[in-house]
Amino acid sequence: ALYTIVNRDTCISCGSCGSLAPDIYDYDEEGLAFVMEDDNRGTAQVDEEFEEDVQDAFEECPSGSIRISEESFEGDPDKFE
Ligand code: F3S
Repeated sequence: ALYTIVNRDTCISCGSCGSLAPDIYDYDEEGLAFVMEDDNRGTAQVDEEFEEDVQDAFEECPSGSIRISEESFEGDPDKFE
């Protein structure tokens, strides 16, 4: 299982995650990214077909704001830090 969440405190609205994984990440009116499926709580399991996109977004985010885990984040981007 794969879960993802955006640390919105450090997101710099670069736009990379939404272009690499457009089915997973979107931006609010300020341009800050969030996970669409679970309103950025990190509780929704990523569909297998999108796992690679999420992995790419994780690797490419310039501010390290994309978090991934094999367990649910339960709303806390820092849960596994
Ligand atoms: Fe923000 Fe990183 Fe996405 S800076 S817009 S979370 S790629």
